[in-house]
Amino acid sequence: MRLPRSLRARLTALFLIISGATILSTALLMNRVVAQVVWAPLDAELVEEAETLCTLVRSGHLEGLQTTVVGIATEKQHGPGKFVRVIGGDGKVIAEAGPVPHELRNAAVPRIKQATNLRAHDMPMRVLNYPLHDDCAGVVGVDVRRQLMTLAKARIAIAISALMLLLALGGLAWLVTSRATAEMDRLAAEIATIEAGSLGRRLVPRRTLEVDRLASVLNRVLARLESAVTHLQRFTADAAHELRTPVAALRARLEVAIGGPPDVGAYRDGLVDSLEQTERLGRLAEDLLTLSSVEAGGTMPRDEEVRLDLIVREVVDALEPIAQEQGRALECDAPAPVSVRGAPQLLKRVVLNLVDNAFRHTPAGVLVRVAVARRDGVAVVVVEDHGPGMSPEDQDNAFRRFARGRGTTGGGSGLGLALCREIVAAHGGRIHLASELGRGTRVEVELP
Ligand SMILES: Nc1ncnc2c1ncn2[C@@H]1O[C@H](COP(=O)(O)OP(=O)(O)OP(=O)(O)O)[C@@H](O)[C@H]1O
Ligand SMILES: [Mg+2]
Repeated sequence: MRLPRSLRARLTALFLIISGATILSTALLMNRVVAQVVWAPLDAELVEEAETLCTLVRSGHLEGLQTTVVGIATEKQHGPGKFVRVIGGDGKVIAEAGPVPHELRNAAVPRIKQATNLRAHDMPMRVLNYPLHDDCAGVVGVDVRRQLMTLAKARIAIAISALMLLLALGGLAWLVTSRATAEMDRLAAEIATIEAGSLGRRLVPRRTLEVDRLASVLNRVLARLESAVTHLQRFTADAAHELRTPVAALRARLEVAIGGPPDVGAYRDGLVDSLEQTERLGRLAEDLLTLSSVEAGGTMPRDEEVRLDLIVREVVDALEPIAQEQGRALECDAPAPVSVRGAPQLLKRVVLNLVDNAFRHTPAGVLVRVAVARRDGVAVVVVEDHGPGMSPEDQDNAFRRFARGRGTTGGGSGLGLALCREIVAAHGGRIHLASELGRGTRVEVELP
């Protein structure tokens, strides 16, 4: 059997099953109690009569016995159908009166006290066996049409009340679950009206605690969604803006070259300039891609062992020719092996970006130092220079995307440090920048 999918129907059905079982068992119990109330006094009365008769038999007063038996049998309190029979120890009937049912004519002497209902002469009867004791036993029966009628009425009353109770409870359950689910329906309807453009809207508080909790959880999800979408929109706008500048520069340079007099030297200059712009464009596109993939958690395998000291040396070796060209000393301090787990390409990118900054944002001839060491179980990479430093304002913004310091002429896109921060964070580390105007800049990367 398939359960209904509606929560309301399920809850109501469950409630009905449980309350139905309870009501049914209560009704059965009540039925037994009512039968007890009807039969117990009657049985006691019949026992008493049989006992009176047997007392007469035992005391030897047999002459008055038949009169008493007839007197008891003709007593009309229980209708016309009453019979009495007194039996001796030898099984012989000592006295008898009233319409003894046919099937009891040759019955054995009763041995146990027992009351049974049977039909005789087309009449419902209650027959009591009074067991043999001191040479006397008895059987007394009465017409019980009235009692059966009372019992039937009581049973009908019990059945009707049970049914009505069940119906009332079912209706109540349906009402309660309807009210509870209606609130959820309203919540769903309200959520359905929220579009991408209206993510700033929030759901109103609800009456019931559970639905209210659901609404506040959804509100938190909406807030996160809103901030993610806003962030994405801003990022896309910034990226488009940043791409426009090198494209415009490239176009302008090409136009100048084509529009001028045909001169090989001018063409060459134009092409060199254009190449520079395309390099810048390529770098920008690559940075944007890396940034978004690191942010989305789509980093390269992170469980590789990475030798930071080797990476630092590699970067220093690669940049040494540029350092010489710029007449600056490039110091490398990587005395011992330092390993971390992570993505080697990304970590190399961090070191490269930091050294690139030191080269690009300090005048030629300024010393740059790169060091790597282990400190309290944490790998630390330091890149420092004795350049002009950064203003406190520039320091605050340094890690924001597309944030370039004021007066920066390096031609960068302002993504370098933002990318460094994302990569370091993805490795569970921290990056810290300290700079002082006129004294230099020091960037420290900690990796677990
Ligand atoms: N060593 C440094 N000395 C002085 N200023 C620095 C130094 N490093 C970074 N900055 C400042 O911080 C800003 C942000 O640096 P970031 O690396 O994010 O961008 P960028 O170098 O301008 O561009 P990109 O790295 O994307 O080519 C720089 O524009 C520069 O003003
Ligand atoms: Mg940079």
